[in-house]
Amino acid sequence: MGGTALALEVTDLTAGYGPVRALREVSVEVPEGAVVTVLGGNGAGKSTLLRAISRTLPFHGGAVTGGTVRFGGRPLDGLATDRVVAAGVSQVPEGRQVFARMTVEDNLRAGTLGARGDRAAKAAALRRVHELFPVLAERARQQAGLLSGGEQQMLAVGRALMASPRLLLLDEPSLGLAPLMAARIADTVREINAQGTAVLLVEQNAALALRLASRAYVLEVGRVTLSGPAAELAASDEIRRRYLGVADEDEPTGRPDPDGNATKPARRPALARWEETR
Ligand SMILES: Nc1ncnc2c1ncn2[C@@H]1O[C@H](COP(=O)(O)OP(=O)(O)OP(=O)(O)O)[C@@H](O)[C@H]1O
Ligand SMILES: [Mg+2]
Repeated sequence: MGGTALALEVTDLTAGYGPVRALREVSVEVPEGAVVTVLGGNGAGKSTLLRAISRTLPFHGGAVTGGTVRFGGRPLDGLATDRVVAAGVSQVPEGRQVFARMTVEDNLRAGTLGARGDRAAKAAALRRVHELFPVLAERARQQAGLLSGGEQQMLAVGRALMASPRLLLLDEPSLGLAPLMAARIADTVREINAQGTAVLLVEQNAALALRLASRAYVLEVGRVTLSGPAAELAASDEIRRRYLGVADEDEPTGRPDPDGNATKPARRPALARWEETR
């Protein structure tokens, strides 16, 4: 492929939930070591795409009905989710989904399930997570549900990193976070990528995502309608008008539910909850 090694190759993926068709012939590529973003409004199919890649779609009542997903040249189709993790792909699900009544350290330990690597590799992964997020070391024995929303997002990312993935699937990590915390998460994504992990980032926060990514796709009602270098998309009139336009600071953001997982705000304008503040 043009000399660039492809980490992830999604080709003509079609998926849905019973009669609901959520993805139609979606093709997305993530080169090795790259950050690629998929932008799209509510219901565009972003989470469905990540679930299809991680093979967790059946847990949500969905199924892939066409197309292929290859990682490092190997098909992921038909693999169980733990085999996908073992192949080097870890997902941070939408709404964080930390285990609220478990301790922080047990949440992190759960991230090693299915992971390749021995005890030493897992200990090294834990050290790396603690370096990235010192608060997770300080709060190791605390219940995860007592962490702030931003700290829970760090825990969700840390849990995924415990498997030492080569590709991290991130579903709206900025959801429900104040701009400063969202910016911190963005810095962390940069750091994780700099350490050699490719990232597929799904976001409604286009301003943030386009700064992190080298390449971007726009998903609308299950189809890819635009794609290209992130800098070009950020500069395009259509993207600026539709996705980077007026930021409404008063827009309600998601609040953690009693289990500490982020919930969706009732209504959000497509892709512009806030402009990044730096
Ligand atoms: N578990 C489910 N069961 C049935 N339909 C679903 C399910 N999850 C998503 N859908 C439907 O599939 C379509 C795509 O949803 P998806 O969650 O992938 O969108 P999204 O881009 O992640 O949206 P959001 O930004 O709101 O998270 C929508 O029409 C949605 O209603
Ligand atoms: Mg989603």
